[in-house]
Amino acid sequence: MTQPSNAPLPLAGKRVVLGVTGGIAAYKAIEVCRRLIDLGAYVVPVLTDAALNMVGETTFRALASEPPKTSLWTDEVTIPHTQLGQTADVVVVCPATARIISDLRTGRSADLLSATLIATEAPVIVCPAMHTEMWEHPAVMENLDVLAERGVIVVPPEDGRLAGGDIGKGRLAAPETVVEAVLTTIGPNAHQLAGKRVLVSAGGTREPIDPVRFIGNRSSGKQGHAIAEAAKLAGAEVTLVTTAAIPSSSGIRRIDVETAAQMHQAVMSGSAAAHVIVMAAAVADFAPQSASDQKIKKVAGIPSLTLHPTVDILEELGTLKAAGQLTSLLVGFAAETQNVSQNAQSKLHRKNLDLIVANDVAADQVGFAHSTNAVTIYGNDGFEVSLSLRSKEQIASGICEVIADRLKTKHPKQK
Ligand code: CTP
Repeated sequence: MTQPSNAPLPLAGKRVVLGVTGGIAAYKAIEVCRRLIDLGAYVVPVLTDAALNMVGETTFRALASEPPKTSLWTDEVTIPHTQLGQTADVVVVCPATARIISDLRTGRSADLLSATLIATEAPVIVCPAMHTEMWEHPAVMENLDVLAERGVIVVPPEDGRLAGGDIGKGRLAAPETVVEAVLTTIGPNAHQLAGKRVLVSAGGTREPIDPVRFIGNRSSGKQGHAIAEAAKLAGAEVTLVTTAAIPSSSGIRRIDVETAAQMHQAVMSGSAAAHVIVMAAAVADFAPQSASDQKIKKVAGIPSLTLHPTVDILEELGTLKAAGQLTSLLVGFAAETQNVSQNAQSKLHRKNLDLIVANDVAADQVGFAHSTNAVTIYGNDGFEVSLSLRSKEQIASGICEVIADRLKTKHPKQK
């Protein structure tokens, strides 16, 4: 088996203070801790007395980078809260009770965690979790509004089953959502695409022959989805037009389509507002002229299909751009099996693109359906960079980095 490249983990070298307060959801902080460690972070848990009623120190001792801190009064360091606050890259409070939210709003230092929160200049992420009545209390709402105005990142709770069996708003956000907030705040691409609207297409289109059959292709949509997620982690407002049944983060505006014609319509309607358009989808070049309403039966003999060309969405966008009717940075994909560099660059110029991402889909572990990829990105000004074999998430993050650089140099004044 070929190993993906050992590119650094996204949170390598980052120090996360993970504050845990005494809500039932404290058990989920254990999963958050594990995921942060898996992403390379150095995690220092800080548990309040109430948290210790909910979860044990031993679990965090086994999982985190340091034994959990539980008190201001310790022999290890003289002033633990300032040491924790000053060295943190981010402080995450998960779960955050109404009490800690109130302490942070008023600047009250009541224990190690609240003292750390007011001793830090690092970004702070709070993940509230409480019963619906408490969540909806005007004092809690107002405290959170004030914190958000001050720049604290609030990861809102979800609707769902709460402690005691009640159902309502107040359930701690899912661990992956909390980790995503950390990546958006201090991850490798944090803020690179802040304020940018990015439109991404993903997956292979399906052109119906009859209600049960279609003409499709081998695209899984994984790379396009990974680009949408990476753009979101880089701070962009993302619209994803996809044919793939892959889940996407809640912050992504998603439009599910099936055919090339539906994808054309969805992409064109979002194109004018987009700063960046990434056409990662494998769009069918030909579709049956008409689809049969009923299943075609074999007793009727072998059918012949009349195909007609679909619209080349990217080419249309490139033409609008040449006519000055579109300002988006246009990024195409070229999945090739031979003369990769030559074919990709000819598409780049023919479709009037800013960048093209080329991959040799005949190579081992590259392209369709794999979870790894290797690409070369070409620019319309002779720019060229190769990203060797690595996970599709890492490729996506590399592509977003190139896009962010381009936006800076090519469209410095773009709003
Ligand atoms: N594309 C598109 N609309 C189509 C076909 C392709 O927008 N009807 C886009 C793809 O999303 C991709 C790029 O064009 O970003 C290149 O697609 P590809 O299929 O590799 O190229 P084609 O131009 O169709 O050329 P060929 O199939 O002959 O290689």
